[in-house]
Parts: sequence; structure tokens; C-alpha cells
Amino acid sequence: MSEPHPSTVAIEDVLTRQLSAAQQQLDFLHEQLTESQRLATIGTIAAVIAHEFNNILTPIVSYSQFALQSAESDKPDMELIKKALSKTYQSSTKAGKICTSMLGLARGESSFGQVDIQKVIDEVLLVLARDPQKDGIALRVQVQPSMIVYGDPVQLEQVMLNLLINARHAMLGKGGSLTVKAHTTDDGGEIRIQVSDTGPGIPEKLLPKIFQPFFTTKGTAKKGEAKGTGLGLAICKEIVEHHKGRIEVVSEVGKGTTFNIYLPICTSN
Ligand SMILES: Nc1ncnc2c1ncn2[C@@H]1O[C@H](COP(=O)(O)OP(=O)(O)O)[C@@H](O)[C@H]1O
Ligand SMILES: [Mg+2]
Repeated sequence: MSEPHPSTVAIEDVLTRQLSAAQQQLDFLHEQLTESQRLATIGTIAAVIAHEFNNILTPIVSYSQFALQSAESDKPDMELIKKALSKTYQSSTKAGKICTSMLGLARGESSFGQVDIQKVIDEVLLVLARDPQKDGIALRVQVQPSMIVYGDPVQLEQVMLNLLINARHAMLGKGGSLTVKAHTTDDGGEIRIQVSDTGPGIPEKLLPKIFQPFFTTKGTAKKGEAKGTGLGLAICKEIVEHHKGRIEVVSEVGKGTTFNIYLPICTSN
């Protein structure tokens, strides 16, 4: 048999080298993509921290002002000062927790433990700065007790808070009803948390975009609410997926919007 033609060997050689160079380039690009995705997540999280801090700093500033004014007056009102300081303390502690938890999320680590869903929902309803009824919004809450997931309570509270703030925003000025439900799914393997509003709904063509960072339709500020950042749902998705769950939306223009969150049930007791 004849030896392979020398030029065939040369071509093979060149091709092998080219292939390996292309592979190296692909690996490099892949690494870069992972790194930019990580940086984008950190950027998003930094913006989220700034966004949540802004919400929390507002009461801290006004309560500490109250306390100072009273302390400097002729008749300091100790009760008022105590109340103002305790509110300031609570809010600052909360801010610290959010910061730690969000930075943990950026690093891909968090303090996971057993979390009672009912507690998460109760806590968020307490934190919700304004009473929904003041905005003509009827609130209904239906939560099955003793449902436990494995997760970070601060992060889960943030998911709920962002969904509730969006729902309230959707109904501002017109009123409507806001429903929060949480139950185990029929097969018992998951917990479904629903947040529904009777706001204007989301046009079908926008649905694929709403979870993208910085996508917002809130270009101008509404009464009592800030302009949109487009970060709320992006961070919700990030957190829910970090908890091995998923978030879905069902919306009908003119009727309203429902967000469904599915989380795996924690069975180890
Ligand atoms: N409950 C809702 N009803 C109607 N539209 C909503 C609702 N929740 C979210 N959206 C739409 O999704 C967009 C993205 O929401 P989000 O990520 O929270 O950012 P932001 O609230 O800052 O705009 C909103 O600007 C709005 O168009
Ligand atoms: Mg939002």
C-alpha cells in the first residue's frame, strides 16, 4: 500500500492546529461570557441595593429628624424620641440584612435554612409601607400554614415585596383587588405562591421582556411611587431560580395580572 501523500499529511496537520486554535478561542469566549454575565448580575444587584436602600432610607431620615428636633426642643418628648429611634433602628437593621443577603446572592452564596412561607408573607405585608386600603385596594390573603421551603428568608421577602409593589403600582389611581395565595400543588411536591391584581394587565408582546433587567414601562413617576428601574422582576427571577424554583406570569389586558412562583417543598424535618 502506498503511504499517504505528503500534502495530505500537511493539510491534516494544519486542520488539526486550526481546530485546536478555534477550540481555544471558543473556550476563551465562553469564559468571557460567563464573566460578563457575572458582572451584569453584580451590576444589577448593586442597582437593586441602591433601589431598596432608597426605600428604606426615607423613613430613617424622617424619624431621626423627628427625634433630633424633639431632643433639641424645650420639652423633649421621650416617648416620641424612643419610638423614632426604635423605627430608625429597625429600618437600619433591615437595610443591613438586605445588603448582606444581596451581596451573598452576587457571590452565589446565601444563608439557606428552613423558611416558613407564612412568616415571609406576614413580614412583607408589615413592611409594605402604605396600607393598600388607602389607595382603594382590597387586600385578600389566603396562606396555607406550616409550609416550609429551603431558602433565604430575606431574599424570599424581597421577591414578594417587589411583586406587591408592582401590583399596587398597576392599580394606583383606579383601585382594585390584590390577592396573595399560597398552597401546596396538587401533587404535593411544590408550593405555589400567587400574587394577583386587577390592574390593566400586560400586553402579550411585552410579556417576554418583563423579566429582563432594566426593562420598564414606568418612564415617569406616579403619585407616591418612584420611576421604574426595570430591576424588580429580574431580581425576582434570579432569586427564585437560586431557590430551584420558577416564576411565571399570566396576564390579560383589561383584566389583570397573576404572578405564580413555584418552590420545591422542604421535606427534611
Ligand atoms: N402587576 C403588573 N401589572 C402590569 N404590569 C406589570 C406588573 N408587574 C410588572 N409589570 C410590567 O413589567 C415591567 C417590569 O417590572 P419590574 O421589573 O418590576 O420593573 P419596574 O417596576 O421598575 O418597571 C413594568 O415596568 C411593567 O410594565
Ligand atoms: Mg417593579
